[in-house]
Amino acid sequence: PVSLSGRFKGSFAYFTIKDRLPQILTRVIDTLHRHKNEFFEEHGEKGVEAEKRAISFLSKLRNELQTDKPVTPLEDELPDAALWNQYLDYQRNLPNGNGEPSWFQSPWLYVECYMYRRIHAALALKFKIKTLHSAEFEAYRIFNMLQFCPPINNFDVFKEGKAQNFFESQEAVIALCTYFQELLKNIKDLDEKQLQEEFLKLLQVSLWGNKCDLSFSAGEDSSQKSSPLQSLENMVPYILVNDMEKVWSLLVNAKKNRTERSNVRVDIILDNAGFELVSDLVLADFLLSSKLADEVYFHGKSIPWYVSDTTKHDFNWTIKQLGSANHMWMSRCGINWEGNLKKGVWVFHDHMFWTLPHDFSSMSEVAPDLYAELQKSNLLLFKGDLNYRKLTGDRKWEYSIPFHQALNKFHPAPLCSLRTLKSDTQVGLKPGQGEQIQASETEWMESHDRVLLDIPVTREQMNHYRAAA
Ligand code: F6P
Ligand code: MG
Repeated sequence: PVSLSGRFKGSFAYFTIKDRLPQILTRVIDTLHRHKNEFFEEHGEKGVEAEKRAISFLSKLRNELQTDKPVTPLEDELPDAALWNQYLDYQRNLPNGNGEPSWFQSPWLYVECYMYRRIHAALALKFKIKTLHSAEFEAYRIFNMLQFCPPINNFDVFKEGKAQNFFESQEAVIALCTYFQELLKNIKDLDEKQLQEEFLKLLQVSLWGNKCDLSFSAGEDSSQKSSPLQSLENMVPYILVNDMEKVWSLLVNAKKNRTERSNVRVDIILDNAGFELVSDLVLADFLLSSKLADEVYFHGKSIPWYVSDTTKHDFNWTIKQLGSANHMWMSRCGINWEGNLKKGVWVFHDHMFWTLPHDFSSMSEVAPDLYAELQKSNLLLFKGDLNYRKLTGDRKWEYSIPFHQALNKFHPAPLCSLRTLKSDTQVGLKPGQGEQIQASETEWMESHDRVLLDIPVTREQMNHYRAAA
């Protein structure tokens, strides 16, 4: 565990736990208040009573967080609770541990994930779902397809924010979908060079789509106002590690070596709903339409996570929005991706592992079924900052250590990360690049010190100092 005070003061970890996470919890509590009548209509007095219990549970959680209380074991009956509690024991017994793990004395990655799981518990458990048999992995499927939870239990407290962000990004969504529609019209006439150009463009749109995430912008996200395709050229200097050509050659070779029996499969480990998800869907459709891939698997979250991460509901809702005629502007997109799901060339896959605190080097033993699933892929695209942190164990690595070393033997299939920096971990840099980040980080922290104390940093300010990996 790394203490948040002292060494980390002024780091983004410190800023997150001290300022941002309590703000997120406050927004969650406000959302519950705003839905009070809905709970009453749907569940009568019981609903209002349960909503009150959830609010007191979350207010207590916020106080624990702000006053550095011990991190407590999960007492709910949900099947992943045992894995969370095993992980807590592991934290307790760390050689340089400080005894009882607490919010400020535990690794940032752990306590931030833990907060989102406690929010889920507040909403799922306070409504008295039937007891599930305890913690086998398989039981999770039952939880996941749980039908006997009253609707309130599947209440995604971040849903409004995600939908609002989607509609606020409509200019960028329309620009991207209209561009893609045009591209599809003549994609069969493009030669390999032209296809490569289009691939690199859409890969960058998916990368920069990661800038907009609501856990980070405290909800007011305005980064996707402009057309996503115009700014690509002048964003190239901000790309710290650029292996896009290697990704292209891997796909071209996979296609050349494709046999009758073996499909070329690409897996996208999704991050945020909204514009970023649309950019991932466009990229996935390009892979199919250009015949670079035969099937795309999308991996999403089983519970509401990091405010804007994509759940199965978000995935299906977004595809329906883009295909539906009921939204004036949406019908101009006129994209029908539901067909890809029906044909099975697009598959949505969710697994509890993605919403555990474990970094990915433990997947082969904690979630062997998921690891085996990923091994079937020709290419894994990990989207976003949280996935990057779990790929690299969220360690304070030297900037120049190679990415594959930081993976700590996690390698189910060829993989790459498309991530904009929102946290301190960074690897794979050339000599001198690290100092560039360090300098801008210090400059950012110093010039934003007052920001750390009262108002959330805006994305533009943050992005001016940080760049994409
Ligand atoms: O502090 C910013 C943060 O909450 C990180 O903890 C987390 O890694 C990131 O935002 C989530 O960003 P993304 O949606 O890109 O994974
Ligand atoms: Mg996210």
